[in-house]
Amino acid sequence: MEAVIFENVNKVFARGEVAAEDVSFRIRKGEFVFVIGRSGAGKSTLLRLMSAQESATSGRIWINGQELEKIQGKEMPYFRRQIGVMQSDLGLLEDRTLFDNVYLPVIATEQQGRKGRRRVEGLLRAMGILDRARFYPREVSMGEAARALLARAMVTGPSILIADEPTANLDPDASWDVMCLLAELNRQGVTVVVASHNQELVSIMRRRVITLSAGRLVADEKNAVYNVRAADAMEERRVLHEREHRKQNGTLSDQSDSRDSQSG
Ligand SMILES: Nc1ncnc2c1ncn2[C@@H]1O[C@H](COP(=O)(O)OP(=O)(O)OP(=O)(O)O)[C@@H](O)[C@H]1O
Ligand SMILES: [Mg+2]
Repeated sequence: MEAVIFENVNKVFARGEVAAEDVSFRIRKGEFVFVIGRSGAGKSTLLRLMSAQESATSGRIWINGQELEKIQGKEMPYFRRQIGVMQSDLGLLEDRTLFDNVYLPVIATEQQGRKGRRRVEGLLRAMGILDRARFYPREVSMGEAARALLARAMVTGPSILIADEPTANLDPDASWDVMCLLAELNRQGVTVVVASHNQELVSIMRRRVITLSAGRLVADEKNAVYNVRAADAMEERRVLHEREHRKQNGTLSDQSDSRDSQSG
């Protein structure tokens, strides 16, 4: 089965910023995919659409066979446990130890108690930070904090891990450690989607690379290296120019309204 399906997804923000334009792709269960592109290309938005933190303006998204639009409010907490999210604006709580930070998502689940605590311990061990379990975030290195974020993302046993710039602010060694942990989780069967600016690491990993430019998917390659050309400023200008052209011809405005006309 597919872990992720995007079908003609558009995301236009209130002030008209186009963060996703007619984006379609599929990610099979167990794949490892990088999402690259210039700043503002729409990487974070794509990941937030995937984890249902953001809803599409039009188009359809399926996660593990479930269409996001159709998930009822009360099903959302269960749905979310299928997806581990690591992103910088969801940082560690400073007034809790690494252990308690990682345990936090377990509290609302039936794994609470000894089973949950053992799971947290196991993950901290797997991330190589069990000896830091009782430390507070300010007492650990950035690399250790990043690994704690990864442990927290995995604690509810998600089948998909979505990481937005997991190596941002890390030195090359710590970045490599985090990348190896992502690869290890992937070997264990977790579908991994990573937005990254780290050209070197993306190229070393040789995985599937999806490139965005001004909200559009401009390249999707297997066993790829960081495609500087596809992610460059020229490509961005080309996409923006084309969009401007279509706007003048009145074809783009149809997209942001299409959901209303479908459901209405
Ligand atoms: N909440 C929002 N409201 C309005 N516009 C937004 C919002 N979030 C993102 N955008 C716009 O959508 C576009 C894509 O943003 P996004 O954060 O997805 O890019 P990115 O590829 O992750 O960039 P970076 O590499 O800098 O993290 C940008 O033009 C941005 O200004
Ligand atoms: Mg981003």
